[in-house]
Amino acid sequence: MESIKILAFETSCDETSVAVVENGKNVLSNVISTQIDIHREYGGVVPEIASRHHIENIMPVFTEAMRQAKCSLDDIDYIAVTNTPGLIGSLLVGLMFAKSLSWANKIPLLPINHINGHIFSNFIENDIELPAVSLVVSGGHTNLYYIDEIDKIDEIDKEIKITLLGETLDDAVGETYDKIARVLGLPYPGGPEIDRLSKNGKDILQIKKPKVEEYNFSFSGIKTYITNYVNNEKMKGNTISKENVAKSLQEIVSEVLSEKVLKVMKNMKVNTILVSGGVSANGRLREKFKEISEKENVKVIFPKLEYCTDNAAMIGCAAY
Ligand code: KG4
Ligand code: ZN
Repeated sequence: MESIKILAFETSCDETSVAVVENGKNVLSNVISTQIDIHREYGGVVPEIASRHHIENIMPVFTEAMRQAKCSLDDIDYIAVTNTPGLIGSLLVGLMFAKSLSWANKIPLLPINHINGHIFSNFIENDIELPAVSLVVSGGHTNLYYIDEIDKIDEIDKEIKITLLGETLDDAVGETYDKIARVLGLPYPGGPEIDRLSKNGKDILQIKKPKVEEYNFSFSGIKTYITNYVNNEKMKGNTISKENVAKSLQEIVSEVLSEKVLKVMKNMKVNTILVSGGVSANGRLREKFKEISEKENVKVIFPKLEYCTDNAAMIGCAAY
């Protein structure tokens, strides 16, 4: 098999990441420099600070990714870079760096959509049987897709067709975690904190499922319900169990997400479920889908933890 090596860049938010991926599956390096500790002080990502740090980080991260992959630019067949969506100043740093390398070394450049990157993070180290339903749950998106292989176009052997079935009508699920964490006085990013605390909590709130048509989602009602609960309890002078609030959030989120995925699975007769994006690192969500996999006899695929949150390997995989 011919080896195609792709050098990939991801700088859409607060992670500077560079990877070298061979044939869309074999990750030769995936270096991630996160700015979480810097932005934590402000309770969220500050775009101007993020872009300045990308400028400082991109060269050393690139050098390290090439060193770990034992590659020189002569070995690279394509350069891939996230071009949208994301913070504009952050995206520009990765884009300009990748474009310059591409132009100076005459290596073709492939612009990649960040969400497609998350979708393809499931393909790293996994053989996937299509059609599949793909759920992308990140800080900015909650999207549901139908993915299928379609016939040969030009000289490409197989083309993968991605169809958006539904999305959130308001807040993204990661954003909901981060906002509720803030209400509870937990540090940014809130998802991992809530995930950790929920292990010692009880589902005391038993939040009702939002009524949303078709394959769409809504999380703003859940966010408001929990915020009001916390504020009311505080006003009454009661102590709040962060663990119980965390557990209640985990239960409703995993219920809502899995319910919609099951609906697609049954309506469209799909036997493969792909879950990706930062929130796919969530323990309860992974457990819930494992239960579904056993009960329904379907294949559920989650990326390895390092490919859940933003990384360049997924961009290299999507480019391939
Ligand atoms: O995919 P990602 O790194 O960036 C975006 O494209 O947005 O996702 C970041 C989001 C944050 O909202 C973060 O709180 C959430 O993923 N997250 C989690 C967990 N780890 C990260 N949410 C729930 N449970 C986790 N374990
Ligand atoms: Zn992302």
